[in-house]
Amino acid sequence: MSTVMDEIPLSGPDITAHEIDLVTQVLRSGRLAMGPMQERFEELVARRTGCDHAVSCSSGTAALHMALLAFGVGPGDEVIIPTFCFVAVANAVLHAGAIPVFVDICPKTLNMDPVKVEAAITGKTKAVIAVENFGCMTYMNTYRAICDRHEIVMIEDACEALGGIHGGRAAGSFGHASVLGFYPNKQITTGEGGMFVTNNARIAEIVRSLRNQGRGTGSGATSGHPGSSQGLRAWMSFERRGFNYRLSEIQAAVGVAQMERLDDILERRQGVAEWYIERFMAHPDLILPSVDSETNMSWFVFVVRLSDQYGCIERDRVLDGMHRHEVGAAAYFPCCHLMPHFAHHTGGGPGKYPISESMAQRTIALPFFTGLNARDADFAAATLELMVSRENLSRS
Ligand SMILES: Cc1ncc(COP(=O)(O)O)c(C=O)c1O
Repeated sequence: MSTVMDEIPLSGPDITAHEIDLVTQVLRSGRLAMGPMQERFEELVARRTGCDHAVSCSSGTAALHMALLAFGVGPGDEVIIPTFCFVAVANAVLHAGAIPVFVDICPKTLNMDPVKVEAAITGKTKAVIAVENFGCMTYMNTYRAICDRHEIVMIEDACEALGGIHGGRAAGSFGHASVLGFYPNKQITTGEGGMFVTNNARIAEIVRSLRNQGRGTGSGATSGHPGSSQGLRAWMSFERRGFNYRLSEIQAAVGVAQMERLDDILERRQGVAEWYIERFMAHPDLILPSVDSETNMSWFVFVVRLSDQYGCIERDRVLDGMHRHEVGAAAYFPCCHLMPHFAHHTGGGPGKYPISESMAQRTIALPFFTGLNARDADFAAATLELMVSRENLSRS
């Protein structure tokens, strides 16, 4: 196998002249924060997620943090989350002062097992954060029914699912509120950024205030700017403890351009995913992501899993081999309950969430981004196949 290829990254943004044009427009406008681009971006995301209100912010984590606070989640409250997910989810629960209650996943969807979600509900449960791991939306209606039955809040974490459709409904439309993230590895990016969406006008107003240092709502200050005397008065009126979780106009401009190109971006990502599926379909040692028949997938990453007879040692050797050949690949995700800062919330170490642990030890995220070309995909796939064949377990 040749080793003279350039590095193939795990992920990367898809930036065109359209993004550059809109950023240039903003820079020329003199309005760099809290302006029309933010409103345009929010409008585009609201429409795409089928929600009445969208509030942009500085990251997906910030959106999660504000979502919890806006629904009154605080010290002593329990929030149900998967242990197998990106750590930001669990961090946000701690930032709100609440208690993360981890739940195991089911192996097919890699999302929380709904039966275990319901079993984890106690008198202290205030919310469930329903994470769409790798864009999978299979259980969203089920989680919502459980939350409604128990009168608790469902926050849909659609950071990995923008543009996906399940049963005719858009990602972001299943929760009482939902969050999105725009880090450069996501379907669309703003460099850094996030969005909170909901149909609840009162909650949206609280989040608008929280992102902007707790400035008052209803005065125009939350969407306005200290450009007029009335705006200045409102700009200096503060009603609650808040944050600076704002998104700049420059970031919003990138977001607008990306949203306007979303369909094209998703189609190209679908093409890459189909290519990988075709390539690995018959591989005896690789388990491919499963997409239910009700879902139009929005592909965030492409994660394969080594079959059951492999463990963490073999998987890490495969990853090392891929890295030696300059192929970006990663173990997605480590379990939160095994991280030191969550240990005292789990009531136990390894073994408590066996499915999550087993999955986490065998996943391999492959290079996956909108502009991944056939040559690089082929090299990444061939490298994976070689490294897996070296482990040779299937024949032992
Ligand atoms: C499911 C999920 N939630 C939250 C986040 C946090 O988003 P951000 O990195 O924008 O803070 C991410 C980011 O990768 C994510 O995948």
